[in-house]
Amino acid sequence: MPAFTATAPGKIILFGEHAVVYGQPAIAVPVLEVQARAIVNARPGGQGINLIAPDIEISGGLEDLALDDAIALVIRLTLEELGISQPPACTLVISSSIPVAAGLGSGAAVSVAIIRALAGFLGHPLPDEAVNRLAFEVEKLHHGTPSGIDNTVVTYRKPVYFIKDQPIQTFDIPIPFTIVIGDTGVVSPTVKAVSQVRASYKAQPDLFQNYFNTCGMIAQNARFQLSDRRNPSLGPLMDDNHAVLQKMGVSSPELDTLVEAAREAGALGAKLSGGGQGGNMIALVEADQAEAVAAALQDAGAVRTIITTVR
Ligand code: PMV
Repeated sequence: MPAFTATAPGKIILFGEHAVVYGQPAIAVPVLEVQARAIVNARPGGQGINLIAPDIEISGGLEDLALDDAIALVIRLTLEELGISQPPACTLVISSSIPVAAGLGSGAAVSVAIIRALAGFLGHPLPDEAVNRLAFEVEKLHHGTPSGIDNTVVTYRKPVYFIKDQPIQTFDIPIPFTIVIGDTGVVSPTVKAVSQVRASYKAQPDLFQNYFNTCGMIAQNARFQLSDRRNPSLGPLMDDNHAVLQKMGVSSPELDTLVEAAREAGALGAKLSGGGQGGNMIALVEADQAEAVAAALQDAGAVRTIITTVR
């Protein structure tokens, strides 16, 4: 059996994180500059699936992983989907340049890469719909009550206008634009921020429903501005979205510092992206401002910056 390699990109949420969990629209785009990679090689004479994932210090047999481990789950789900109970002996090598627990979709990308590599190696490549469905099951481990936006954008590798439980809407960006991503370096599991928002929503349902509605209107407006080729209008919408996320309690001093630094360095707008309380922020910039904004973010404490063109 020949070796099989699959990759999957990172992602950022441009608009609508958290509110998307409550049925509001959100926009997410792939970040092709970072990726997860899975390679499956035959291991003649061996037995079972051997795993090598140096980034997360895994090296050994599948059976050595805990039952609720995300990688064990994704492999099990893929084999079940294919109806294969005894896979041929093979080695699965997993690597990723996507920062972990930072709102860049690393968990979803690793899942998608593994599903595609394993299914391809076994001679039964899976359609996007199945890849997405399986990756969503694994997201539940990472996120608790995920909206499904991460696995969707990572699976389809296209900008997505996402509404939970509705048919997937990928779309084309008429005019590409540049985003600078700044990482606070603060590790922040999404599940924590999502459950905090849930608790606040329970305590103040009207107030939080209002916040969610506002985020939804911002995402809707952004989708309209994009299709109308008015990219710079996204900047003020990012600022507005960040202000609501601050009120929802999912920003942090580090995120606010980077958002402010990006604006001062000439960004058209900036906001946190993803679960928040750490992780990454994003800034919309003119292409020729990208390096200056990235430098300003680093001066303000960003541990990493990524410049990505959304197309
Ligand atoms: O994986 P993250 O940190 O980008 O967060 C996903 C976005 C949330 O809206 C906060 C959660 C979800 O499931 O949609």
